[in-house]
Amino acid sequence: MKIVIGNDHAAVALKMEIMEYVKSLGHEVINIGTDSIERCDYPVFGEQAGRAVTSGDADCGILICGTGVGMAIAANKVKGVRAGVCSDTATARLMKEHNNANILTFGARIVGPELAKDIVKTYLEAEFLGGRHQGRIDMFWEIEKGK
Ligand code: RB5
Repeated sequence: MKIVIGNDHAAVALKMEIMEYVKSLGHEVINIGTDSIERCDYPVFGEQAGRAVTSGDADCGILICGTGVGMAIAANKVKGVRAGVCSDTATARLMKEHNNANILTFGARIVGPELAKDIVKTYLEAEFLGGRHQGRIDMFWEIEKGK
């Protein structure tokens, strides 16, 4: 898969580790995050990753900031994005199986590198279950259309 990865200054080291890990799993990485620890604004990266996913340039996204929360909020402002913050592997699986999340976010100040890798692997390997969950995804679209 083609995976867009973004981060702010709080998550440079973890982003580097996650990029290498994702490549080692056989995926292609598009790095849109900062590689510098100079302070920057996470909404810029959240939006950029969201647009990469909704345009089809990337199959899905991984966003890392201090907590993962700001990135999720920013990415979810892009129509068609379903981003969720995750700090455990059960959520990583269910956010794909039930919510068909197209962006995974987590916090470099919250999860350590080993757990982060497990979360990423679980998320990437999980599959959307469809069925009754599809109707709920359709309801997201209705909300976005303002109905
Ligand atoms: C940056 O200090 C921090 O606010 C940011 O990385 C993130 O945690 C926001 O949600």
